[in-house]
Amino acid sequence: MTYSVAVSGASGYAGGEILRLLAAHPDIEIRTVTAHSSAGQPLVDQQPHLRSLSQLTLQHTTPEILAGHDIVFLALPHGESGQYTDALGDTGLVIDAGADHRLTSAQAWEDFYGGPFHEPWTYGVPELLTASGKQREKLHGARRIAAPGCNASTVSLSLAPGVAAGVIDPGDIVSVLAVGPSGAGKSLKPHLLGSEILGSANPYAVGGTHRHIPEIRQALAALRQAQEPSQAQPDGIRISFTPVIVPMARGILATSTAPIADGVSDAEIRAAWQSAYGDETFVQLLPEGHFPRTADVLGANTALMGLAVDRAAGRVTVVTALDNLVKGTAGAAVQSMNIALGLPEDRALTVNGVAP
Ligand SMILES: NC(=O)c1ccc[n+]([C@@H]2O[C@H](COP(=O)([O-])OP(=O)(O)OC[C@H]3O[C@@H](n4cnc5c(N)ncnc54)[C@H](OP(=O)(O)O)[C@@H]3O)[C@@H](O)[C@H]2O)c1
Repeated sequence: MTYSVAVSGASGYAGGEILRLLAAHPDIEIRTVTAHSSAGQPLVDQQPHLRSLSQLTLQHTTPEILAGHDIVFLALPHGESGQYTDALGDTGLVIDAGADHRLTSAQAWEDFYGGPFHEPWTYGVPELLTASGKQREKLHGARRIAAPGCNASTVSLSLAPGVAAGVIDPGDIVSVLAVGPSGAGKSLKPHLLGSEILGSANPYAVGGTHRHIPEIRQALAALRQAQEPSQAQPDGIRISFTPVIVPMARGILATSTAPIADGVSDAEIRAAWQSAYGDETFVQLLPEGHFPRTADVLGANTALMGLAVDRAAGRVTVVTALDNLVKGTAGAAVQSMNIALGLPEDRALTVNGVAP
């Protein structure tokens, strides 16, 4: 069976990457691409690298144009997806790359985003541990999927094994991330001009204001449910989260640390991550003493992780690299789509990066 697909936000970074991956997917026919200010233009005017889709023209993003496809991808600025949900009621599968359907707490939405709160959809991070197994199990047959925030999924994947196994204290997490500016989208923003970021590392959303914080707390708090029901609220998770924009188009390198739980051995710590990801294709723990570079995962649907037990500091350090546009968004969306449809999970996705 071939599934017809519409991709909204097709002129943007996330939409463009979804299209790049879907263009190589044998079960998908990309029928419709939509945008906003660039509607009416050939897709390749906005996405010159997508040569195999040069026959497509960007249409306006309306419920009528998106309806009538087997699968719809929404890759719109946050707050814009919710208005299409009702109109797409008959659509078999809708995958939102935006934040509108990620959070379960209306209060967290209000605190970090504002505007109308929309119902949470199945979270599209297959390898993420849950209280009962892996998120993958919830994606089988799902009809509505919320792809993750790129920084959020990087940090959640980094720390979930330690939280689930009880080998770290999630009440004192510190994450500092080097991120490429594509994570902020393609629209013109003066602080993202080449002249502002080339040769400079620029911190932003410092001091607990970044919108991905509640998403991380939600993912990690859900894990504690199994261990300590009283700690199941996101308040049981405390995270200091600081992203720094660095001059690389794509990529995230997240360094996360948390205190070592009492009485836990180094071997038990490493075993927690090994047992969580040892059988995974797209999330890999590197051997002891090895740490990833963003260059190793560019273009790949891969999160690479290095782990160190810092006894002097009393903390576990996890360094994770992923491509924000692939594993952090479009790859997660396509992987989740494959699972939802019962297709091989890795279809149209590669574990190999582009080097040098
Ligand atoms: N970039 C990432 O690494 C990343 C990672 C994870 C999740 N996401 C999420 O993916 C979504 C898209 O992000 P992006 O980085 O691709 O942003 P982007 O590059 O700025 O693209 C935004 C897209 O949305 C369209 N658009 C803008 N306003 C619209 C409106 N009012 N109605 C309909 N379409 C509208 C734009 O069309 P025109 O260009 O024609 O105006 C463009 O196609 C966001 O919710 C973001 O949080 C992004």
